[in-house]
Formats: sequence, C-alpha cells, structure tokens
Amino acid sequence: MIQIPRGTQDILPKDSYKWQYIEDTLKNVCEKYNYQEIRTPIFESTDLFVRAVGDTTDIVNKEMYTFKDKGDRSMTLRPEGTAPVVRSYIENKMYGDPNQPIKVFYNQPMFRYERQQKGRYRQFVQFGVEAIGVEDPLIDVEILSMLMAFYESFGLKDLELHINSIGDFDSRKEYQKALQEHFRPKIDEFCDDCQSRIDTNPMRILDCKTDKNHPLMSTAPKITDYLNDESIEYYEKVKSQLDKIGIKYVEDPSLVRGLDYYTHTAFELMSTADGFGSITTLAGGGRYNGLVEMLDGPAETGIGFALSIERLLLAIEAESIEIENPHTLDLYVVTMGEESRDYASVLLSQLRQKGITADMDYKARGMRAQMRDADRKNAAYTIVIGDNELEEGKVNVKNMSTGEEVAYSFENLEEAIQ
Ligand code: HAM
Repeated sequence: MIQIPRGTQDILPKDSYKWQYIEDTLKNVCEKYNYQEIRTPIFESTDLFVRAVGDTTDIVNKEMYTFKDKGDRSMTLRPEGTAPVVRSYIENKMYGDPNQPIKVFYNQPMFRYERQQKGRYRQFVQFGVEAIGVEDPLIDVEILSMLMAFYESFGLKDLELHINSIGDFDSRKEYQKALQEHFRPKIDEFCDDCQSRIDTNPMRILDCKTDKNHPLMSTAPKITDYLNDESIEYYEKVKSQLDKIGIKYVEDPSLVRGLDYYTHTAFELMSTADGFGSITTLAGGGRYNGLVEMLDGPAETGIGFALSIERLLLAIEAESIEIENPHTLDLYVVTMGEESRDYASVLLSQLRQKGITADMDYKARGMRAQMRDADRKNAAYTIVIGDNELEEGKVNVKNMSTGEEVAYSFENLEEAIQ
C-alpha cells in the first residue's frame, strides 16, 4: 500500500472546517489592517533561497527540496514565503506603486526536509504578512499588533511575545567579531557545522540545534550590547510604542532567528500552554533591511512574520478552544422506493438552486438508516417521500430538534424551510 510521505498530513473532510475557519479568521484580521493577498509559485529558482535565506542556514544547507527540471535548471520547493514575495515585489516593480507601503499576506504550503515531530512537518501551511517599502518603527509595531490580533481572535491566552533587536549591518560586524572570540577557543567541542560557521557566519552558532546545551551558549555575548546608537534608538521606539498600545513582550537578547536576512526588530511568539509540545514557537518574523537590495531591487526595506496553521491548531487544541462545525443541512429527504428517489432528485435540484442546503440517500437504505443518516449530517428538517406523499403532493416537514411535524405542499416546501 502506498502511504503518505513522512512529515505530511491529509486534512480530512471531517476536519477541514477547522482550517477554513482559521483561514477566514486570519483573513478578516488582514482586512482590518488593510493587507491584500499575494500568491506566488510553489517552486522558485534555488538561487533565490540561497541568496535570501543564506547559504550557512539549516534551511538552505539541509532542508530544501531541490530538483533539476527538464531544462537542467535548479528549482526548489519554497521553504518560506518572504524571499518569493520580495522577488515578486521587485519583478513586478511594486516599489513604483503609489500605494505604499506594499502590504500583503499569503497562505501557502511550505516545504522543509526536517525531522518529523509534533508541530514540525515537511509540508506545512504558512500564513504570513509582509509590509515592504517603509522603514519606520510604527510599521514594526503594526506588524506586531497584527500578530497578536491573529492569536487573540481565536481567544488564545497562553502566549508570550519575545522580541529583540539584531541591529543594522554595522552593529552586527562588531558582534560577529565578539562571537568569534567567544567560541574560537573551544570550537572543537562543537559540531562540524558550527566549526565552519565560526568563520562564515558565527551568529548561526547561536541557532544550532545540536549544540544548544553547550555551556558557551548561555555565556555568549548578546547582540544588544553591540547595537550602535541608531539601532538602539529604533529598538527603543518600537518598545515604547508597544507599551503605549498595551502589547506585552519579553525582551530576549538571545533571539537571533534561523534566517540570515534579518536586521533590527526580530521576534517570536511562543505558546506557554500545557500540552503544547516541546516546540513552542508559534510564529516568527522580523525586519529585513538589506533583502530587497540583495535580490537586485531598490534600497527598500520590509518587515513581516509567518505562522503555521498546523501549530496554531495545536495551540487551539492545547487551550481547549472549540471550533464549531458550521456545516449543517437545511433538509434531508428520506425516500421510499424508486419513484420516490427519482422525485427527490428533482426536488433537491430545485431546492438547491433556491439556496437550500439539502441531501438525500444514494445507497437505497431503509427508512431508519436514512433517519440516522439525517441525524449524523445535522439536518435541521427532514421529509419522508412515500407513495401517499407523491399522490397527494404534500409532505410532513419534521423539525429535527423539536420533533414537531407540519404538512406542506411540495410547492410551498422552499418557503417553509426558508
Ligand atoms: P520561520 O521562523 O522559519 O520564519 O517560520 C515561521 C513559522 O513557520 C514558524 O514560527 C512556525 O510556526 C512555522 N514553521 C516553520 N517550520 C515549520 C515546520 N517544519 N512545521 C510546521 N511549522 C513550521 C520564516 O519562514 C520567515 N519567512 C518569516 C518571516 C516573514 N519573516 C519576515 N517575514
């Protein structure tokens, strides 16, 4: 038997209403903040991610689904949404649009070859937002406020917002040097990846999954001690504005994020709910000041974040929040025999055209089995079409919650149910 690939999942018809509810709720929040949807291809040139995410990151080094197409071009199933959005922003010259900043959201599957774990999949759906074209602490605050609004719109409470500033490129140069000095004397105790990272990108050591418990990790210098005045001022403004609008946060100077394009504001939202599992990050994001230029665009900057719907669902379950199944039937038509089934099929087609959600039995089951089926399908009303009903042109409409029955002619059925 062929089985589903590891790290992927089917969303079954009995559960898909939860996804629809979550996606609709998130889209409503986007509407309020005036963000419009963007859809980009599932695969892109491999180069896009190597350049944007960084060739020393785990995503690029270990996790990408990369393949050669028939024209011998290297393609990659997108592992994240920011690089494709920035590629599209540049390619479609959105920087020339009078409507600035460009504010977009996306709701798309991403692919990373990771070890499967609760909350960690190889295909997952990211709901993300990006605001490109403005460098202003107030837009950073808008993005953070939107992040919290996403989660609060489901009634989630066990949340902790971690923020940090990873400064501008100048601040980072000093910091990289300090990290090299800190790790160099004991670098042979670290994994092979870290041993090469120390020269190419020492900040990546802080994000290493293998060596995360090494004692040098907790004593490593913090980026916040290396921020220049401009970076400090930017960070202070973001924090004071968050205070003004009442968004609570924890300053986390060890937060560096797993992708290379970040500058200044970086953040992650954690779930503190019992039973959420060991991966507690619900969402992550930050500002990316050099990314547009790095991909050969103009000197524009952006900020955004992404969450996965899979982890959002886990948080909803961990906090025992019920999502109601909105799918109900207005009417279930119980049939008795061939003539009755033929008539029901015509009747259903007419009622559905009038906007009534209705169904019938297609397996020629007995009456009791059909009534049970109506119950399972949450039908509000049922009718039984037998020989008498066909002859008289009248049926009893049964209200399934009260049990009450009222007779109507077939012509008046639609009105009665409406
Ligand atoms: P990221 O931190 O790599 O950032 O991923 C963002 C979110 O995607 C995570 O917080 C998590 O909810 C979800 N996620 C990541 N990997 C998996 C996985 N294997 N299984 C399930 N969920 C996962 C980015 O991707 C950036 N592009 C975010 C961003 C947007 N930064 C600026 N704009």
